[in-house]
Amino acid sequence: MTHATDIDARYALAKRVAQEAARRGMGYYQQRDDLIVEHKGGHRQDVVSMADRALEDYIRAELLAAFPDDGFLGEESGSIDLDARCLWVIDPIDGTACFVNGLHNWCVSIGMLLDGVPHIGAIADPNHNELFHGVRGQGAFVNDRPLRASEATHVREGLLGVGTFYARGTEHFIPFLTRLLGEGGMFLRNGSGALMTAYVAAGRLLGYYETLLKSWDCAAGLVLVAEAGGRSNNFLRGDGLLHGNPYLVACPGVYDQVAEMIGPMLDGDQVTPLQ
Ligand code: IPD
Ligand code: CA
Ligand code: CA
Repeated sequence: MTHATDIDARYALAKRVAQEAARRGMGYYQQRDDLIVEHKGGHRQDVVSMADRALEDYIRAELLAAFPDDGFLGEESGSIDLDARCLWVIDPIDGTACFVNGLHNWCVSIGMLLDGVPHIGAIADPNHNELFHGVRGQGAFVNDRPLRASEATHVREGLLGVGTFYARGTEHFIPFLTRLLGEGGMFLRNGSGALMTAYVAAGRLLGYYETLLKSWDCAAGLVLVAEAGGRSNNFLRGDGLLHGNPYLVACPGVYDQVAEMIGPMLDGDQVTPLQ
């Protein structure tokens, strides 16, 4: 049985570990040019792999030392006990392409599912000194400020986050952009799905659509969006936890408008497996 105090302790742990991992990530980020020269023939991707792995090892060790019976799913190291009631779902660095190119849009994302439902979220962005965090039923915050989704009722009232993954193809992306622009909307892609999700919760973006996202990109953010009064699609349906699904989060006033632009694949079951 998971008691309320256990949730409180896990919430405090998620925030602490996310912030410390982000602080360590900043060390790699600030030295990325030196590391590129020193390691593996100067390939930029290798630096990210090293930072990714080191941060994930740190996060997994901290979480499981405190709660050894919990499950774990991380982008880099795979899973431990996916059937546990409390399952941590983490991305040590979300925004790899930004990280490696010196763009300040990357973060550490730590989510926890309770009985299969996103329950705790902590997203640490060290470049902007922002910690987005929340617990289902207890609200969501950026640092100490409560998060609230936008009150907009039409896509033309703000910006929509978007993203796609090359293996997914463009058939669900380019037509969507055409429809969005046709309605007077505008898009933004900052390179971090976790941060764009947090920005929906914060009311900075009206919504965020990605043709195929992974669970570690959004397990934390889904808690924040729900607590901020936003809506999300049935992202975890089927084998979404392990293989991802199309993804939409949005403020309540534009959710249906954007879902219609995406079409039936949003909550359909015909997701193409990644190559
Ligand atoms: C990626 C980012 C990006 C999204 C990709 C993700 P990574 O994660 O969230 O915004 O468009 O689908 O894979 O590779 O930077 O951890
Ligand atoms: Ca990611
Ligand atoms: Ca990642």
